[in-house]
Amino acid sequence: MLIDLKQQPADALLALIKLHNADPRADKIDLGVGVYRTGQGETPVFGAIKAAEKKLVETQDSKAYLGPEGDMGFVEALMPYVFGKDSPSMGGRIEGMQTPGGTGSLRLALAMVKRAGYKRLIVGKPSWPNHNQICADLGLEVLEFNHARADGTTDMDAIRTALADAGEADAVLLHGCCHNPTGIDYSNAEWDEIAGLLAERKVLPVIDLAYQGLGRGMEEDAYGVRRVLAAVPEAMVCYSCDKNFGLYRDRVGALYAMVADPADLAKVMSNAHALARANWSQPPDHGGAAVRLILEDEALTAQWLDELDQMRDRMRQVRARLAEAGKTGGVDLTPIGIQNGLFSIIPFTPEQVQAMRSEHGIYFAGSGRINVAGLTMGNIDKFIAAVADVTG
Ligand SMILES: Cc1ncc(COP(=O)(O)O)c(C=O)c1O
Repeated sequence: MLIDLKQQPADALLALIKLHNADPRADKIDLGVGVYRTGQGETPVFGAIKAAEKKLVETQDSKAYLGPEGDMGFVEALMPYVFGKDSPSMGGRIEGMQTPGGTGSLRLALAMVKRAGYKRLIVGKPSWPNHNQICADLGLEVLEFNHARADGTTDMDAIRTALADAGEADAVLLHGCCHNPTGIDYSNAEWDEIAGLLAERKVLPVIDLAYQGLGRGMEEDAYGVRRVLAAVPEAMVCYSCDKNFGLYRDRVGALYAMVADPADLAKVMSNAHALARANWSQPPDHGGAAVRLILEDEALTAQWLDELDQMRDRMRQVRARLAEAGKTGGVDLTPIGIQNGLFSIIPFTPEQVQAMRSEHGIYFAGSGRINVAGLTMGNIDKFIAAVADVTG
């Protein structure tokens, strides 16, 4: 019976939103929710998206079904940004399909991993919690390795050991850039080494690219994906447009599969289509169509890239300011300056996380993960002082 189901824990981040909303202090700070915020603390719709949506309303003449692959114009328009404009399909070896956000793409990719007979998914920890949740739901075993050192840098030794123990029955999940939650990205030299190890161990890479353009730049953030795909025969890439186009609730993503022989692509993708059909049948159209209209139009593309640059610049400024504070109380904020994307982790104890909430009205996840975009030039000094206070 339905009533035999067990109570599930509330999502920790959603619970945090409630706590923040209930706090009456005017100068409270929300560093929990994973959305970009401007210097005024807002998450506005991109101007390029507004313009594309207007165009869409005026020109769309049907809402008839498109099929489980969604809007292939959108899927293909994105490929030069992800895989490089010289050979976006790598000679016909890559094909994609639209998915409901990056989460939908990950769900499909990991179901494909399972269906293809892989036994384990190797994941660097800490990772985005939903990776584990999807694997648990699919019954796919997860093997975790340490992704980060306590000093806020990559733990390459742990990665080498994890990959040395991996083999043909394993898939490995890598964050393409702007690692969530640590902000610790691999350097180009580290990606070169990882790509070589993946090829040597014959492990299937699944690359989660949810923040392209929020780290070092659209091209720079694609280095890891391109480097790995150049080294291995097969891979999957799970893409999200929800951050770099600010589309969050419109659920815009894509799944790409690469195989060695283009003749095998249709067979592989037929499995992804069948899985999509059994899950959501077809992805929501609106956001993907808006992205396609941007990418088909030079002026709108330039506007979008400019808006993305502004987001990235602002996050770099916040990061630089935190890094400048250096040793603050008992923690060192310096590594935040070289990390990328929306998130970084500050090694707070659980008691310190609580004290930040109760004494200072500053809310973030229990793991110590902060959304750096929640900080503005108006509240960053208060944040730094609070860190000094609770950790000192
Ligand atoms: C690492 C990572 N992957 C994938 C996603 C999925 O993004 P969405 O489903 O909102 O497109 C997120 C979102 O927070 C993420 O942080």
